[in-house]
Amino acid sequence: MLLNLGSINIDHVYRVPHLPEPGETLGAHSYGMGLGGKGANQSVAAARAGARILHIGAIGPEGHWARAAMADFGVDVTHIAKGEEPTGHAIIYVDAGAENVIVLYPGANRCVTGADVASALAEAGPGDSLLMQNETSAQVEAARLAAEKGLRVIYSAAPFDLQAVQAVLPHVSLLVMNEGEAAQLRAGLGSLPQVEMIVTKGAKGAEWLSPGAEPLVTPPFKVEPVDTTGAGDCFIGTLAAALDAGLGREEAMRRASAAAAIQVTRPGASQAMPTAEEVTAFLSDR
Ligand code: RIB
Ligand code: NA
Repeated sequence: MLLNLGSINIDHVYRVPHLPEPGETLGAHSYGMGLGGKGANQSVAAARAGARILHIGAIGPEGHWARAAMADFGVDVTHIAKGEEPTGHAIIYVDAGAENVIVLYPGANRCVTGADVASALAEAGPGDSLLMQNETSAQVEAARLAAEKGLRVIYSAAPFDLQAVQAVLPHVSLLVMNEGEAAQLRAGLGSLPQVEMIVTKGAKGAEWLSPGAEPLVTPPFKVEPVDTTGAGDCFIGTLAAALDAGLGREEAMRRASAAAAIQVTRPGASQAMPTAEEVTAFLSDR
């Protein structure tokens, strides 16, 4: 089964004619609130893809509905702690071209402890996978413990933080980055690390790089995007679910790419994640 140490955010989404400039006052066309956070988005994507997924995270006093929303999507929420820090939230602007900028307040996401992780991982072992990103605390403890217990550690280096990546990297089985993150990692380390790695390239597809082997290239699907928020998370959650179900790399990458292509055609982050049936139908048309 899958476990995910991940952020849970309340996303406040404003559709704007263009991304704001410094000093500009800009009117939004619309406003909406939804479940977000890279972690929650990935868990929802994995659940909708059919995986059993246990989420490890934290919310604040006003975070009930976020946890309830995750449970509704089929995520195991029994290891989501509740504390006094406000629930994480994100202010998201989406422009007419479906591009976004995100300002994030981590709040309760920074209150996850090593003890929370250890208790969630108590029953986990070889054959299970732990997903992680850079929006919570306790990542290093989690990665180390998971690796010790023989889990596959799938790590998304987002939002990019060189120190965090360096600390977690020795325990990582599969590193997932977008092109921008990969460029920052290469600049920070002098070269890319010799680990299994997936680099997602948005409308240019994705590549699975294994040391000493030819890259596995997954071509993109052409769609008209309306909101790209959470598309990377969709890719990762779907990929993890596919690998957990025993699919081969090529098929897992293809399903993850298709899921992300569907996700960008819908507004919102978690709420836009497609089901396994939707991904299968999308692929059968191509
Ligand atoms: O990756 C998209 C997510 O980043 C949003 O849902 C937002 O909450 C931030 O965590
Ligand atoms: Na979307």
